[in-house]
Amino acid sequence: MKVTVVGAGAVGATCADNIARKQLCDELVIVDIKEGFAEGKAMDLSQTAQIEGFDTKITGSTNDYTKTAGSSVAVITSGIPRKPGMTREELIGINAGIVKTVTQNILAHSPECIIIIISNPMDTMTYLALKESGLPKHRIIGMGGILDSARFRYFLSQAMNCSPNDLQATVVGGHGDTTMIPLTRLATYCGTPAANYLSAEALAKVAADTMVGGATLTGLLGTSAWYAPGAAGAALVEAIVRDEKKMMPCCVSLEGEYGQSDICIGVPVIIGRNGWEKIVDYKLDEEEQAAFNKSADAVRSMNSVLATLEI
Ligand code: 2OP
Repeated sequence: MKVTVVGAGAVGATCADNIARKQLCDELVIVDIKEGFAEGKAMDLSQTAQIEGFDTKITGSTNDYTKTAGSSVAVITSGIPRKPGMTREELIGINAGIVKTVTQNILAHSPECIIIIISNPMDTMTYLALKESGLPKHRIIGMGGILDSARFRYFLSQAMNCSPNDLQATVVGGHGDTTMIPLTRLATYCGTPAANYLSAEALAKVAADTMVGGATLTGLLGTSAWYAPGAAGAALVEAIVRDEKKMMPCCVSLEGEYGQSDICIGVPVIIGRNGWEKIVDYKLDEEEQAAFNKSADAVRSMNSVLATLEI
């Protein structure tokens, strides 16, 4: 089993670190365009092998995709991250060209690969990768919902003073500050409704904090977050390579599910060895469906920008 991570920045390196520690593959290749950067990250990570007790062989490559040949999964993190005050959507002009080229390069050497998109704006980059690659839809997965749902559980756990591991909570819709939809009605604590423990106002605050979770971190850090995005990418790799059949909220291509078509957007899916294998129908109520449709409109309008770009 071979896995490639493209982009050796903070998110890519954290993702690679998690993949190695969990020993999700025999061979891990890190690619970056900056001369020597991926090689350096690969060597540094490799020197944690004895300390952490893993045997994964980690190789770095400066834009030489021949080294990625035969990868089962590729995680694309390349592109510029957002700075304080910037939305994910503002990155589209630069990141679209990068994601398109990287997708082509990966598939040229690993035609059977499953592709995970982390680059922002994630929903539009997932749609772009799907359209440009012509791959079967099950092999292109955007990571956003796993991250947003982890943040949702974090804020819920803070409000309830409980373990995030005792919570089930899902974010659907776009991976944007105004497009994501934390499903508070369906959030549970050990199988019981979270609404039993928090007031409507407290739940609304948890949802609002979740939606700007990425922006809050960008404000604090001066750049986009990396620990949770990288860990979320690795969790997705894990579910694929271990064929876990785990339910994860991910950005996938819809063909009528959740009332939407010709779009990649976050919904709960089952992840296994074939990529995303099935969409789970959460049976949204009227209000949630209206929010989902609004989110889809925003994502679709972002996708329409792709046609105006020279990439
Ligand atoms: C975030 O929300 C990087 O989009 C990512 O932190």
